Formats: sequence, C-alpha cells, structure tokens
Amino acid sequence: MPVLKNISTLYSCSLMGKQADIHPLHRAALVWNDSRIEWVGEESDLPAEYSSSNEVIDAGGNIVIPGLIDCHTHLCFGGWRADEYEKRLSGVSYLEIAKAGGGILSTVKETRHATEDELYIKASAMLDEMIESGVTSVECKSGYGLSTEEELKQLRVYRRLAEEKSVSIVSTFLGAHTIPPEYRDDRKAYVDLLINEMIPAVAGQKLAAFCDIFVEDSAFTIPEARRILENAKSAGLKLKVHADQLTTGGGAELAADLGAVSADHLERVSDKGIRRMQEADVVAVSLPIASLYTWQPYLNCRRLADAGVAVAVATDFNPGSAPCYDLPLAMMLACNHGRLTPAESLKGATIYAAKAIGLESITGSLETGKRADFNILAAPDINHWIYHFKRKPPIRTFASGTEIKR
Ligand code: NIG
Ligand code: FE
Repeated sequence: MPVLKNISTLYSCSLMGKQADIHPLHRAALVWNDSRIEWVGEESDLPAEYSSSNEVIDAGGNIVIPGLIDCHTHLCFGGWRADEYEKRLSGVSYLEIAKAGGGILSTVKETRHATEDELYIKASAMLDEMIESGVTSVECKSGYGLSTEEELKQLRVYRRLAEEKSVSIVSTFLGAHTIPPEYRDDRKAYVDLLINEMIPAVAGQKLAAFCDIFVEDSAFTIPEARRILENAKSAGLKLKVHADQLTTGGGAELAADLGAVSADHLERVSDKGIRRMQEADVVAVSLPIASLYTWQPYLNCRRLADAGVAVAVATDFNPGSAPCYDLPLAMMLACNHGRLTPAESLKGATIYAAKAIGLESITGSLETGKRADFNILAAPDINHWIYHFKRKPPIRTFASGTEIKR
C-alpha cells in the first residue's frame, strides 16, 4: 500500500465548518489502497501496519492539497472568438454582440461545422493542459449544438474523455444556452423541443448528470427556465443555473426554489437571492475569470461567503466570456477581487467544487474512504502558493491513487 510521508502540511478540506476551515494537518502522512484513501493523519500516529510499507513516497517536506476541481467549464466547442474580444474592448458589450447574433451563436455555428473527432481532439488537448495545473475532476457543459443531434455530439465527446482520461468528467446538458437561429421567431417551439425531445434523449442515454440553463436578457426568461428545469428534474437530472451574471434576473431565487445544486456567476445577485440560496443550501459557483473578461463586479464571493453560502471557484472556460482554463488563476482572482482568503479559495476549488457537481462524497477532500486525488505543491503553505502567483504546476499529481505523468 503506498504511503506518502514527510508532508509539511496536508490540507484535508473536509466539508465540516466554514469556508475558511480547510483543516491543516502538520507533519502528516497519507495512505491509500488502489484508488481509495485508507488512512490520513499525523505521521507520528501512523499505524505500524502502514509504516512498514515498502511503497513509501517522500513528499520532500512540501504541502499536499486535494486534487483541484474545475466545476464549471464549456470545454468542447468549435472555433474561437478573438475578433469579438477586440470588439468588446472597444466598447461593444457582450449583450449587444449576443443580441446581434454573435457571441454564443457564432460558436454554435463553428461547433456544428466540426466533426465529433475534431471536437474530441481539441477538447482533449485542452483538458491535458488543465490537468497540468493539478485539476483531477472537471465539469463539462454542452450548449453549442442547440439541436438534439448536435447537443448529443458534444456530450459524446465528454463521454469519450471520461473513458479515456485519468481524471473524472461530470457532464451537464446546456441545451438551454440560448435560442438557436432556426427558432428566433418561435421561442416556445424551442422550449418545447428541449422538453419533449432533447431532455428525454440526454437522460435516456445517460449522457449528463446535470441540466443547466442561462437565465439572462439574451437567453431564457424565468418562466421558461422554470418549465425546462422542472422537466429536467422529473427526467432525473440534477439542476444548475447560470444566474444573475450580466443583469439581476432572479436566477438565484429560482435555483433555490427548484432545489438546484448550484447557481453560477451571481455578479448581480440580489440580497434576497443570497438569502434564499443560503436557506436552500445551493452552492454559489463564482467565476472570476468571466467577471474579469466581462468587467463585472467581483465582490460577490465575499458577500456570499459572509451570508453562509458555500462559494465554489471555477474557470467557466469558454471561447467568449472566459477564454482561459487556468484554475489556480481563478483561485487567485477569487482572493484579489472576490476578497476570499487563500484558505477560502482552496475550499472553493476542492470540496465545495465537488459539492457543486455532486461528487462531495467521492472526492474534494483528503479523508478515509475518499478517492486518492491529490497534489504535492512546492510552497511553504497555501497562502504562499496563491499569493506568489506564477505558473507553478504541482510537483506530482495523483488521480484515483495513480500518478499522472506529465
Ligand atoms: O458562462 N453565460 C453564459 N454562458 C457562458 C458564455 C458562453 C459564451 O460566451 O460562449 C458563460 O459565461
Ligand atoms: Fe458558464
């Protein structure tokens, strides 16, 4: 059984306590059997049966954190949108571009043109780079197909990634990302298609664990969202909402009403929305890279955490509002602009991120019985690791107890 010794501090990040409680253990050791954690504690308490193991790994006096979890990405898409980035910098807003048929819809066009294999090759290469920063679980959304067959195509790319990669993939159906051009003049027909054909197909083929929706001026209204999500829930999908990103739209309240697992973005969330999320135990997924690229306010993390809402941190990687999949960067921005502490940010990218994708009993913390997903980092402590921001891949990463080779 492998035993990891000589750990200066291991941050176990269990769900217990508040956002700031990451449960550091000094001079720790970690034992795992196959893919599961068998024992974790102070090295001086290591039971004799493990201390005689012939598979001792030396952590070199470094720190150990759980594998990072990117709980909100749009990983699979065709093309890019650097032209729109330039337009937005010169003053045209994200919503104006979307309303003129660009934005998400230009990526829909490119994604429909791409073959499943082309999409797989592109997403797979990007996923490999995400893994290099210590990520061991990733949530991946569809939403650039917007027809039954095209949405299934994206979700099959994720299924293949799940089968072929060493990290976990959780798939989310986001057919309700925006109204496709064919239905511009008949929104109701697209909502009917989502409910009568797309959701049953996705659930029937077990291609997604979650159903998400973009509630926004340029996308879906609250009554439409309620109908779609209620149907998804009846089909056995768990719920997520892109809520209150660019305008205050009541998405957080809706997420709470429907028992959604998470509400994401939330830059414009109302006080009532925060209160409802806290009461209904909805995880707030904060996406500081999207806030940065859309010039939205950042302090939502602090407001949410102070109100007792669990705040997860993710990249929102997509070709429009967040063309960057650097989760450690998102963690730093959640501190510098969201005003979380490094400990709070770490909890946001580990156990709270696991909770946001329904994996909290499987990964996200270093506890007996959990999957052995962890990183060895060259830093004196987690404050230093986040504060001294640079490209600093972990020394070693283990997913399900097996080292990921770089
Ligand atoms: O999470 N907000 C909606 N969806 C994405 C953006 C997608 C895009 O611009 O392509 C987001 O920010
Ligand atoms: Fe998103």
